[in-house]
Amino acid sequence: MAANPDRQDLESFWLPFTSNRAFKKNPRMVSRASGMHYWTPEGKQILDGVAGLWCCNAGHNHPKIQEAIKAQADEMDFAPHFNFAHPGAFEVANRLCEDTPEGINHVFFTNSGSESVDTALKIALAYHRERGDAARTKLIGREKGYHGVGFGGISVGGIPLNRRQYSASLLPGVDHLPHTHDLSRNAFSRGLPEHGAELADELEAIAQLHHPSTIAAVIIEPIAGSAGVLIPPVGYLKRIREICDRHGILLIFDEVITAFGRLGSPYASQAFDVTPDIITTAKGLTSGTVPMGAVFVKDSIYNAFMEGPGQAIELFHGYTYSAHPLAVAACRASQEVYREEGLYQRAAEMAPVFEDALHSLKDEPYVIDVRNYGLMGAVELQPIDGKPGARGLDAMIRAFESGAMVRVTGDILAFSPPLIIEPSHIEELVECVRKVLCSL
Ligand SMILES: Cc1ncc(COP(=O)(O)O)c(C=O)c1O
Repeated sequence: MAANPDRQDLESFWLPFTSNRAFKKNPRMVSRASGMHYWTPEGKQILDGVAGLWCCNAGHNHPKIQEAIKAQADEMDFAPHFNFAHPGAFEVANRLCEDTPEGINHVFFTNSGSESVDTALKIALAYHRERGDAARTKLIGREKGYHGVGFGGISVGGIPLNRRQYSASLLPGVDHLPHTHDLSRNAFSRGLPEHGAELADELEAIAQLHHPSTIAAVIIEPIAGSAGVLIPPVGYLKRIREICDRHGILLIFDEVITAFGRLGSPYASQAFDVTPDIITTAKGLTSGTVPMGAVFVKDSIYNAFMEGPGQAIELFHGYTYSAHPLAVAACRASQEVYREEGLYQRAAEMAPVFEDALHSLKDEPYVIDVRNYGLMGAVELQPIDGKPGARGLDAMIRAFESGAMVRVTGDILAFSPPLIIEPSHIEELVECVRKVLCSL
């Protein structure tokens, strides 16, 4: 097929989470990438303000990661991990657990964030059963939470449109915390918003409503990404942790976006000094190069499964492609790049530059909020009356046409650039967005 297919050739591919008809009338294609940039098939350079889709933390086409993938492709194509294994999987597991919070030293491999979430929920349910506490079957998510697209993930997820087409078939026994997005008190916060820690106390109320002894786990994103970069109020996550501890409820942090340096540390758990029981990851795990996810669990959880008869399978769960050799090679190389190039530290150093630049958009047309933490940020726009999302979509399209890729959720523009971003790129990105806002 030609680099840029004719319009009629766009029919077969059903794009995910996209208006197919609108896209196919006005497609936005990229066909090459390097460092901070994509290029369209026509050769136009696009500055990547979202690391692809919150993925490519090391920047695009990093030579070390490319080489590792190529070398693995030459060496061995596939290895089964049901009753067999390849040594690289153990090596990379050990390496990853060097950076996890204390007491979290076991990892289950998946192929995506959605699979990581459903794996984590299943581990939580199975863990309580293994301990003889099988009445703990309820799962608590949060409004506006995004946990991928599996039935577990959409059930605990809190984005109404992601649930609506399947609403009759969601998991039973799920409840939701209120979200923490409160522009009336927190608009234009820099870093953690000041107000809203008390919203964590709703967990106590929900626990009492169902009875705490029935609740298996709470799952939240430390910073909600897909709903538009919703940053936790000061003290909120600690309160959630305390309530979980009080009632023996497992706390799952969905770090599919926040892990691997996005917040200037390996995991959000370290940035916020709150240690969950389970961490779900994907995306930056391989810097987006090969699909891979990972679920990290506390030693006490892993050990609870290791007590039955020695020959028994401990967890009836897994994927054909768990720890696929290409993913393992990409993961190992990505983690080496993060460490050798000091990219987490770099993200921490760049965060104040990013913050100042983003907040310089405060007085531009339609801007009702700017928020940021680490190298994650958002600019929220006033919706057009009766047409929610239209202004945001228009802004995203105009940004792409002006040479920058940003993410849009409703009327919120989200930013999560590769961690290699330079101050000049930040300026270019923000000036592009400023022009776009002035043109709306
Ligand atoms: C927090 C969170 N969980 C889960 C997912 C789902 O990941 P995937 O699209 O790889 O299935 C995402 C994707 O953006 C996410 O942000």
